[in-house]
Amino acid sequence: MGDLMEIRVEKGSAEKYSCDLLLLFTFETPARLEGPLEKVDREWKGFITNLIKQGDFKGELFQCQLIYTQGSLPAQRVLLGGLGKREEFDLEKWRGASSKAGQTLRDSGFKKFAFQVKGLDGYIEEGLAESFMTGLLLGTYQYKEFKTVEREKIKEIEEVVLLGETDEEIRSIQKGVRLGEIVSESVYLARDLVNGPSNVITPTALAEKAEQIARDLGIEIQVLELSQVEAMGMGAFTAVAKGSQEPAKFITLEYNKGKGLDTIALVGKGITFDSGGISIKPSEGMERMKDDMSGAAAVLATMQAASKLQIPLHLVGVLPATENLPSGKAYKPGDILKTLSGQTVEVISTDAEGRLILSDALTYSLQYQPKTIIDLATLTGACVIALGNYVTGLFGNDESLLKRIEEASVKTGEKVWRLPLWDEYFEYLKSEVADFRNVGARAAGAIIGGIFLSKFVGKVPWVHLDIAGPASIDKDRPYIPKGGTGAGVRLLIQFLQDWVKGN
Ligand code: BES
Ligand code: ZN
Ligand code: ZN
Repeated sequence: MGDLMEIRVEKGSAEKYSCDLLLLFTFETPARLEGPLEKVDREWKGFITNLIKQGDFKGELFQCQLIYTQGSLPAQRVLLGGLGKREEFDLEKWRGASSKAGQTLRDSGFKKFAFQVKGLDGYIEEGLAESFMTGLLLGTYQYKEFKTVEREKIKEIEEVVLLGETDEEIRSIQKGVRLGEIVSESVYLARDLVNGPSNVITPTALAEKAEQIARDLGIEIQVLELSQVEAMGMGAFTAVAKGSQEPAKFITLEYNKGKGLDTIALVGKGITFDSGGISIKPSEGMERMKDDMSGAAAVLATMQAASKLQIPLHLVGVLPATENLPSGKAYKPGDILKTLSGQTVEVISTDAEGRLILSDALTYSLQYQPKTIIDLATLTGACVIALGNYVTGLFGNDESLLKRIEEASVKTGEKVWRLPLWDEYFEYLKSEVADFRNVGARAAGAIIGGIFLSKFVGKVPWVHLDIAGPASIDKDRPYIPKGGTGAGVRLLIQFLQDWVKGN
């Protein structure tokens, strides 16, 4: 597990605080210095003003410079971070700048630092503290579970002190820190599960993790075995699971059961390894297919955060978990499956397994009579082709729900982009022998996946998030190191919080 550093909130101000390292931020070539920066500058006899005037530090976005204060400040060193142009500033840049500062400190070997949180350009301390923590924690995440050689050489920040000047500021900072910490801890959980190899993160391991979380937080949990779900009529999930030696698990978590709160179902694709099955994938890059349970990881992480934040909603998390492997027992192209909904599917490709397990999971979630269903899945390579690695494909059958997701997306910086689910596309899924086939032609692959799923949610407002692109990345982003990203977690938590607030 990636561990969180220790975070303390104290009363104090930057220019008076004695510490090894003080973090300060500035906009790019600011007209004048303000807030803590201005006070530190005054104490420091105009040092920062000079630095900027001479052009030695411009404050470009993500720029960082370490300065020794030589006794002219209580702090022994200052790390000056750039925020870029003032008129372009937003919380997404702030998360990135916080992350870059944290990475710079860590990589230079510092284990502790202090930072004064002060309202900035209309942003209050709470939001700034939250986004600072999110950027810092998410940006300094490292997956070191299986590093044994020179493990002690892995550098880590151990302690952060956030300073507030007044009691009111301190309360506001504490609130923001708590939110940032809980959310980041959940993203860490999702990232750890995604980064974990498929020989370790098996369906059983996923179920055990879910059980541990449920036990710790008092969430209800049910883990069904393959024989049970088969008997219940989940012909699609069963077909995918039966080729594998590793036991499949059908996991359902329920938070705030029986309290009369709005019910929202979250359904996550939990393929712990996708070889493609009999329609086997090319071996190049197949190792990435350990991330095919990213949807399930995001749902589990969201349930954890929702419970820690005590979000007043009845949440049902459904995690169908299995491998997709070829074997003598595996399902085959041409097989016809009977889904839990009663509808039949002709299998054209065993590699389009995600929609099969999700079809049964979506139908299963209907029994809870949810007001909304959201599914997350690394569903299609086509979505990666269409939108790339930084954007989630957004699909759904309800305009106002889609808008809510888009609003949460803007707030969190987890980008989503809408693709249509027009009736015309259903043509591609027509089958001669069953109600439909599990794949269309090559065209519109991401949409066809969404169309398929739409047949299993009845009339319930539903959103499908295709996270195949953003679930794991091979290039660092400002506060998302390469590897498993925890895509969808922050988006979902924001969506749930906004739901409660009624906007
Ligand atoms: N897990 C894959 C989708 C995927 C591909 C995720 C690349 C991340 C990166 C999914 O199960 C799959 O194999 N989909 C097929 C569907 C096709 C057979 C219609 C695909 O995208 O090729
Ligand atoms: Zn597949
Ligand atoms: Zn898959």
